[in-house]
Amino acid sequence: MNDFPIDLIRKDFPILDQLIYGQPLAYLDNGATTQKPVRMIDAVNKIHREQNSSVHRSVNYMSEKMTEAYEQARQTVQKFIGAPESSQVIFTSGTTGSINLVAFSMGEAVLEPGDEVILSTMEHHSNIVPWQMACERYGASLKIIPITDEGDLDMDAYRNLFNKNTRMVSVTHVSNVLGTINPVKEIVRIAHSHGVPVLLDGAQAIQHEPVDVVDLDCDFYAFSGHKIYGPTGIGVLYGKQEWLDRMPPYQGGGDMIDRVTFEKTTYNISPFKFEAGTTNFIGAIGLAESINYLTGIGMDKIAGYENYLRDYATQKLSSISQLRMYGTSVNKAAIFSFVLNGIHPYDTGMIIDKYGVAVRTGTHCAMPLMQRFGIEGTLRASLCFYNTTDEVDRLYDALNKVIEMLA
Ligand code: ALA
Repeated sequence: MNDFPIDLIRKDFPILDQLIYGQPLAYLDNGATTQKPVRMIDAVNKIHREQNSSVHRSVNYMSEKMTEAYEQARQTVQKFIGAPESSQVIFTSGTTGSINLVAFSMGEAVLEPGDEVILSTMEHHSNIVPWQMACERYGASLKIIPITDEGDLDMDAYRNLFNKNTRMVSVTHVSNVLGTINPVKEIVRIAHSHGVPVLLDGAQAIQHEPVDVVDLDCDFYAFSGHKIYGPTGIGVLYGKQEWLDRMPPYQGGGDMIDRVTFEKTTYNISPFKFEAGTTNFIGAIGLAESINYLTGIGMDKIAGYENYLRDYATQKLSSISQLRMYGTSVNKAAIFSFVLNGIHPYDTGMIIDKYGVAVRTGTHCAMPLMQRFGIEGTLRASLCFYNTTDEVDRLYDALNKVIEMLA
């Protein structure tokens, strides 16, 4: 892909230019967290050095500037995901914070004994445990969409899970383990035909392809700042206004109130109703800076280059006969989970790290998915738009060295 300015892009990420154990870093753990462009790092540093002051509270000059920048950041996110109103964009601590908010507040709003919540086999723990906790509180239960051996959702089974007790569907847009890109528009359409709202976990999707929440028609969309080249500790929850108005607040504290007396408190409107306490406003501004950086390149171009990397890596890794891949859907992102026959993924990960190749090993916070495949864990290489085919070659070479040593 000669038209993608990969050399220039890599210069925007200073952390990539270093040696690990004397070898150039090949950072292939972007599913866990992504690296940061220098303009985001500079923007956050500048606030800490020159502009820091709390938002929505004080009349001082810097506070007013910060409030303006924070609300501007909300509008940047709004535009990026195509949300109709900025009041539908809630800043949270991350995808986990966003899903916990919905599971708690929607639990309060809609769950009753005997009700059911549909999840899928490929969910991250953060899209399982909050719903399990809500179900335990209200006497509801989970229903699970099975997956095929290739790692696709069984859509017929999904259709058959609905009944008069179904209250909510919560599924991932892209699997953090298998890389499968789920047919989320169809998932939403089917749920809505039963009058059931849908949350999409966008933690592994939002950084890889253009997302439009109106086109998807989802009721909620959750993602994390640190996985889209922004700071840690910041995330987003998009919600349809009708639900946000119906949902009670998740946490109490400053800024989420309208009026407080010891007898009774009335609440602020959305999004402030869901942003109790001093928010991570610097994180939100940093996230907006990263989003502006990405839109400057173009999400379509990023998706195109990542698909090129995915195809290159698929061809390269599938030529290793001792490698067993988990997640072979025809609709997948550049996320590769696999094991080398007879070699523990942890040993493989430790050895290739010595060659400068950084990956993740283990269950990837998806134990039920590991149980589905009858394995204890995998090694995962997750690529993004600053990675190169040379880095894929280095992964390939390092894996072959592991096979020579241990197989
Ligand atoms: N959810 C992150 C991952 O898949 C941490 O690695």
